[in-house]
Amino acid sequence: MSCAILSQRTGFLKPTCFAMRVSDTALTILGACCILLRSYTKRARRKRDARVVFRAPWRVLIVQEQERRRSHVQRRNPSASGNAFHTGSASSPLHHTGPGKRWLPGPGYFLPGSRSGGAASVLRQQPPRSILGTVPATGEQGSLRRPPATDPTAYDAFADAYDVHWGSFSLTWLKVFGLLIGGRLEPEARVLDLCCGTGQLAGELVARGYSVVGLDGSRRMLMRARDNAPGVGLVQGDARGFGLRSCCDAVVCMFDSLNHVLTSDELRAVFRSVHDCLLPGGLFLFDLNTETGYRRHWGGDYRVTSGDFDVATRSKYYRRRRLGVFRACISRRGDPTGAVAKVELWQRCHEPSEVVSALTAAGLVDIEAYGTEGDALVPDWIEGSERVFYLCERPGAPSAP
Ligand SMILES: C[S@@+](CC[C@H](N)C(=O)[O-])C[C@H]1O[C@@H](n2cnc3c(N)ncnc32)[C@H](O)[C@@H]1O
Repeated sequence: MSCAILSQRTGFLKPTCFAMRVSDTALTILGACCILLRSYTKRARRKRDARVVFRAPWRVLIVQEQERRRSHVQRRNPSASGNAFHTGSASSPLHHTGPGKRWLPGPGYFLPGSRSGGAASVLRQQPPRSILGTVPATGEQGSLRRPPATDPTAYDAFADAYDVHWGSFSLTWLKVFGLLIGGRLEPEARVLDLCCGTGQLAGELVARGYSVVGLDGSRRMLMRARDNAPGVGLVQGDARGFGLRSCCDAVVCMFDSLNHVLTSDELRAVFRSVHDCLLPGGLFLFDLNTETGYRRHWGGDYRVTSGDFDVATRSKYYRRRRLGVFRACISRRGDPTGAVAKVELWQRCHEPSEVVSALTAAGLVDIEAYGTEGDALVPDWIEGSERVFYLCERPGAPSAP
């Protein structure tokens, strides 16, 4: 305003006033830009905060829900830990997965074309959030910064659900047993079912006339085995070092049990124990998940509904470390406590060359490997096969009965 008056009076200041007017305008525009930028930044920040605010209560709710359940369980039963169910009733009826839903990641899966039918269902779908929210993400503890250790008791919290849903899968291996060693055993031969789990296979071998001992690291699995396999001697022990000496005509170890042994040194220790417990000429049959199997079936979330159990599972395979992790949250329908048992199982994919050299180092000979193609066993077909069966023996002639 004063500039305009001055310029009217003098005419001298005209160019200066013009310049000042331009700079005023520029300043005004700059100021407006600043205001716009500030409000934009504020809005963006508010948006980001809104996202955080949206996410946080969800997490908090899950934690609160877990806390609520835990305190509820502890109030009802002070000795109960949130990790295990109370002792279940007698053995549950066996169930098998339905046709077309046979392949299942986790503590094992079974030969294609094997048993089917029954009440259980395996759903290839995301478990509901309420359950999945409690399954630790594979990225969390699965980061492998702390390498997992072999844990022979890891199945304790899993035993009841395993028995109902997975336990009978081992009956599939009867066919393999019959094909590879059945014909080479005396009718009353002594067989050790190493890592016998809930004992269905052992029970079936007893029914066929063999004298069977089952050994497992998990007490709870053995409790289920006691119900499923009357007549089987049960021993709680560690496959990496058990004390049976030269007493068995055969040892079987099925359903990727030896994948649970997580180092090659430990695998060698298992084979040494097996060697020592076999009689001269005794046979050893076991199976292992292969790289192909892990790559195909370990990764993703599944929900299994079987018997009373609702099992939300999550698995992942770490290729470079050759390690797989399977996590599950198990709840029992109708359980008023709403208890959720959590299970974490690690497996290692042992290289075939490693397996053969460990067997050889343990003194086992005549090693044969069979891949699986559909229902058939294919000698030496390891590449591409999802499961491999190994057969070998302790050297020496079997002594006369
Ligand atoms: C996938 S389950 C298979 C069970 C059984 N062989 C079957 O076919 O159903 C693996 C079993 O191996 C047992 N196990 C794992 N590591 C073990 C170890 N170091 N010593 C003894 N048992 C072990 C577990 O307790 C579990 O029962």
